[in-house]
Amino acid sequence: MAKRRLPKPLFDYIAGAADDERTMAANVSSFDNYSLVPRYLQDVGSISLKTTVLGCVLDWPMILAPTGMNRMFHPDGEVGVAREAARTGTGYTLSTMGTAAIEDIAAESSGPKIYQLYLLADDHLNFESIDRAKAAGFDAICLTVDTVVAGNRERDARSGLTIPPSLNLAGLIGFATRPGWCLDYFTGGKFTLPNVSGGPGGDLSTLAAFFAEKMEKHITWSKVEQLIDYWGKPFAIKGIQSAEDALLAAKVGATAVIISNHGGRQLDGGAATIDLVSEIIDVLDGQIELIVDGGFRRGSHIVKAMALGASACMTGRPYLYALSAFGAPGVGRMLDLLKAETERTMALVGCADLAQLTSGHIRTSFGPFAKRHNHSQQI
Ligand code: GLV
Repeated sequence: MAKRRLPKPLFDYIAGAADDERTMAANVSSFDNYSLVPRYLQDVGSISLKTTVLGCVLDWPMILAPTGMNRMFHPDGEVGVAREAARTGTGYTLSTMGTAAIEDIAAESSGPKIYQLYLLADDHLNFESIDRAKAAGFDAICLTVDTVVAGNRERDARSGLTIPPSLNLAGLIGFATRPGWCLDYFTGGKFTLPNVSGGPGGDLSTLAAFFAEKMEKHITWSKVEQLIDYWGKPFAIKGIQSAEDALLAAKVGATAVIISNHGGRQLDGGAATIDLVSEIIDVLDGQIELIVDGGFRRGSHIVKAMALGASACMTGRPYLYALSAFGAPGVGRMLDLLKAETERTMALVGCADLAQLTSGHIRTSFGPFAKRHNHSQQI
């Protein structure tokens, strides 16, 4: 439905990834490398998916990932998405690139709120947005570290969704054949990046150009330590793909690492995120929380990640498709479906709550995980 409503260049902007899009595909397909092991005759009369992560109590462990410029896809934008996340009892992450202000999200959503920080070269802007998140009562910050330069997204190059825009005939036709979207776009207000003060208003390409120019490319671990100290509340580092970096994150005082490859939109050729969970859990050894992002399309995927030891999961594209197709009600429907699938899968594997779900509920034929598989804990 998103494909039918969105102009093709915008649909491709969401659906596409870097280079050959291998890592994006692997994020989804690699869930098939893990089989669930159901245990029967367990009391599953009432299922709870409750957990606490980044200091937030969640009714279920699927946090909405930060994604930019939501109003471009549907006028309901980030505020509509955040409200639906709160209604289903999970956390919402507002992007630095969001088209809704930190303060608007705080006013409209009673749920757990995380502010995603991209470090900009103008350090004043970084600290200003941290101050605003603090004043607005956000629960946590998540710093994305995998975006020092833009990934090579060839679908955008083909459609002309570039900086500056160079829409070819096919791209223009892509817009012209979506009158419903065009009406929303032209009758809606100007887009701004309200979380970056002094940022421009305008269309997608001016915002993206502004942003690409302002990214800080010299960020290092000592800077992260400074940000963590300044914020003083739960802090996650998003984009981690190695055990070494996860240990460094623990060392500088992060509360959580978010294993993510940015939906395959940055580095193509990295591992599927689900394949990184068990080795990073092993080295972290409980020092900090681990959230995993990427490829979640089914409740069974969430159950697999949690059985491997994740503290929570994150999802991006699925809610953007739902938003693009039906606005906020679509996001609500998508979240309700995913939550119901997760509850059903928990009952089918014989777990009434997340504490009962262990590595004994997963079987795999390869890698370090096979070594730590421990049947005895469930017998
Ligand atoms: C921005 O973070 C994007 O992936 O487009």
